[in-house]
Amino acid sequence: MAFQSESLALVPLPGAVRVGRQYTLATLRGWGYRDERFESDVELVVSELLTNSIQALEGTYEPHHTTTLLSKQSLIRITLIKTDETLHVEVWDPAPRMPRIRDRVSADSITGRGLEIVDALAESVGWRAPYDGLPPEGKVVFAILALPDKPPCESGPQGDRFTRVP
Ligand SMILES: Nc1ncnc2c1ncn2[C@@H]1O[C@H](COP(=O)(O)OP(=O)(O)O)[C@@H](O)[C@H]1O
Ligand SMILES: [Mg+2]
Repeated sequence: MAFQSESLALVPLPGAVRVGRQYTLATLRGWGYRDERFESDVELVVSELLTNSIQALEGTYEPHHTTTLLSKQSLIRITLIKTDETLHVEVWDPAPRMPRIRDRVSADSITGRGLEIVDALAESVGWRAPYDGLPPEGKVVFAILALPDKPPCESGPQGDRFTRVP
């Protein structure tokens, strides 16, 4: 099975969500994927996971204290892993609290359903302990999505938008 993986550390502030989405789209295109439906599903998953991490860390750091914000222990990390059939979106954050799915969400609650949306778009959602290369604290929250049926074009990220002149 062929694996490809890309990873980016992000400052845990709201603007990181947009950066994470742009980074993800650029990575998918670099891998040859140009499926709009798939891209928008992945964008939503990335937004939810990054937003949750940033919210979980809210109040932990002083937003203007750049030395702390930029330390390896504070930066959150998005990792994209492509296998033959799946895309794994993984977000590490140092917050000790674990996510919750479908518990304690009252009928009147207007929060607590983001991960259910991710669950609906993904084949699976979960979290686990940090693996090698990540700081030991916190956790990795992941979503595994099925790649679109059509494999990326053999000619690479540019696809057939350009005509080759012999
Ligand atoms: N990365 C995370 N770190 C800590 N807690 C999390 C994380 N992601 C989710 N959670 C917890 O799980 C709950 C459910 O998340 P979610 O379904 O996205 O709902 P919402 O973000 O609207 O509260 C959150 O309210 C939060 O308490
Ligand atoms: Mg959420």
